[in-house]
Amino acid sequence: MAEIIVVTSGKGGVGKTTTSASIATGLARRGKKVAVIDFDVGLRNLDLIMGCERRVVYDFVNVVNGEASLKQALIKDKRFDNLHVLAASQTRDKDALTKEGVEKVLKDLDADGFDYIVADSPAGIEKGAYLAMYYADKAVVVVNPEVSSVRDSDRILGLLASKTKRAEEGERVQEFLLLTRYSPARVEKGEMLSVTDVEEVLGLKAVGVIPESTDVLNASNKGEPVILEANSDAASAYEDAVARLLGEERPMRFTTPEKKGFFSKMFGG
Ligand SMILES: Nc1ncnc2c1ncn2[C@@H]1O[C@H](COP(=O)(O)OP(=O)(O)OP(=O)(O)O)[C@@H](O)[C@H]1O
Ligand SMILES: [Mg+2]
Repeated sequence: MAEIIVVTSGKGGVGKTTTSASIATGLARRGKKVAVIDFDVGLRNLDLIMGCERRVVYDFVNVVNGEASLKQALIKDKRFDNLHVLAASQTRDKDALTKEGVEKVLKDLDADGFDYIVADSPAGIEKGAYLAMYYADKAVVVVNPEVSSVRDSDRILGLLASKTKRAEEGERVQEFLLLTRYSPARVEKGEMLSVTDVEEVLGLKAVGVIPESTDVLNASNKGEPVILEANSDAASAYEDAVARLLGEERPMRFTTPEKKGFFSKMFGG
């Protein structure tokens, strides 16, 4: 069976799409057959981050409406043959997706032998976010180390435990906490919540901590998931998170401020 992983958050702009692209690419790099779906109808951002925006002809809504087949709409990644993108539509209204339509697409992907389906959720708790999480087996809850993001994530955890298919069937969606835009130096100065603070408030262990990094913007400008960047802490942190999602144990990195050497201290490097 295909495993459905929703990447969600309460607050907007915390790094869901960045995370969806990197997790999907990381799983594909490990040989899994992966589809990543943009549930953010009206905005269409995932295809930009994945670098396939010029190849979008048909989108998720077209498939749900029966205007295109899944095969026509799935865009094969240029880097990995086993990675596919289903883009969101830019023009239609937010109500274009239906529960039945989404279920059919997920079932068809399963029948096509996909191992993982990564659902990039829109922000908030409206219909799109609800549809993105409804069929999920696992949820990656993306949180920034600040109070408002943590508070809104708590609401999402409540929805995952009540408004999903698994919840309705008396089961659980397995939840994973992913901290992004983490700055150990600012945590040390007391300007940001620490990993432990966030873990304690939400009652979840972090599956990954992604540092604040200019590599994220650079990668997205190139249309490349940041996990593929060479010599990037953000890339390494995403790779660790993917490994942990697959059940491997890895020590947490990039959570303490970099120790400055003698020369950089002297010369402010
Ligand atoms: N680790 C990071 N370091 C620095 N910038 C980051 C990091 N992660 C994400 N960003 C930046 O944060 C912004 C929002 O990221 P992204 O689009 O992935 O968030 P989102 O949660 O999908 O947003 P929305 O709720 O609008 O869908 C982008 O400009 C992105 O480049
Ligand atoms: Mg997004």
